[in-house]
Parts: sequence; structure tokens; C-alpha cells
Amino acid sequence: MAGNITLTMIKPEAVAKNYIGPILNMINEAGFKIAAMKLTKLSTRQAEAFYAIHSDKPFYADLVDFMSSGPIVAAILERDNAVEEFRKLIGATNPENAEEGTIRKQYAESLQKNAVHGSDSDENALVEADFFFANSDRVDYM
Ligand code: CMP
Repeated sequence: MAGNITLTMIKPEAVAKNYIGPILNMINEAGFKIAAMKLTKLSTRQAEAFYAIHSDKPFYADLVDFMSSGPIVAAILERDNAVEEFRKLIGATNPENAEEGTIRKQYAESLQKNAVHGSDSDENALVEADFFFANSDRVDYM
């Protein structure tokens, strides 16, 4: 059965461009509830740990630098089939391939500065939610 949470980050360039409000609006309009949320700034070490799965990729060092370069918003989002539905809402990783009406089509700048992160599986959603939040930080709507 598909899980009901996903983890998103609004990335540093989108926060710097004052897109927090518009992006959260799109998220709410798509039927997601915010179960936990915070504005924070990742240290280099935290960004390395969050993206450890990509540590063998050529873009890893730049990604870590970028993700620790400024404030981000991290949030746990809740709705049925959350991971898949959120990936539809954000669009392709590369905004050049993102469909009209997606968050990345509207707000992303480049493949790296692609406005938002979304978990890629139910399993990773749980790991990523625990990375940012304690159980006591979460509101349960269900
Ligand atoms: P995200 O969904 O946060 O997951 C991994 C991130 O790595 C991705 O969004 C992009 O920001 C970045 N990324 C993925 N592929 C590339 C690439 N080929 N070159 C540079 N950055 C990438």
C-alpha cells in the first residue's frame, strides 16, 4: 500500500527569491496537508548526509555546496499516495523537461537549482522525515 507522507525541501535559491509562499500555495491547492515544517539552514555535513545516496555522482560536491548555501524550508506533507502525487506536482528533476503547471516548471532555475526536493520512495520519505523532524514535531490529521 502506498504511504501517506513525503518529505519536501524548498531549496536555497527558491527561498532567496521569495517563492516560499507561492510554492506552499501550490502544495496546499494540490491537496497536501503540512504535517511538520521548519525554516533551517543545512551545514555542509548535514547536506552531505541527506544526499549520501548521491555521493558517487559527479554533481555531489556542488549539490552539497548549493544545499548548504542558504536557508531552506523542510516539510512533511501528507495525503494519499503522497510520494507519487508529489512527484507529479513538482515535475521532472530537470526543469527543461517539467510539464506546464508543475512547481519546477514555474519556479526552478536549473537542474541543480530546481526549487524543491521530493522523496523518491515511501521508504526514503520515512528516512528523510526522520532526518528533519522528531515524532513530537508532527501533526497527525488522519
Ligand atoms: P533532488 O530531487 O533534490 O535530488 C537530487 C538532486 O541532485 C536533484 O534534485 C538536483 O538538484 C541534483 N541533480 C540531479 N541530477 C543532477 C545532475 N545531472 N547535475 C547536477 N545536479 C543534479
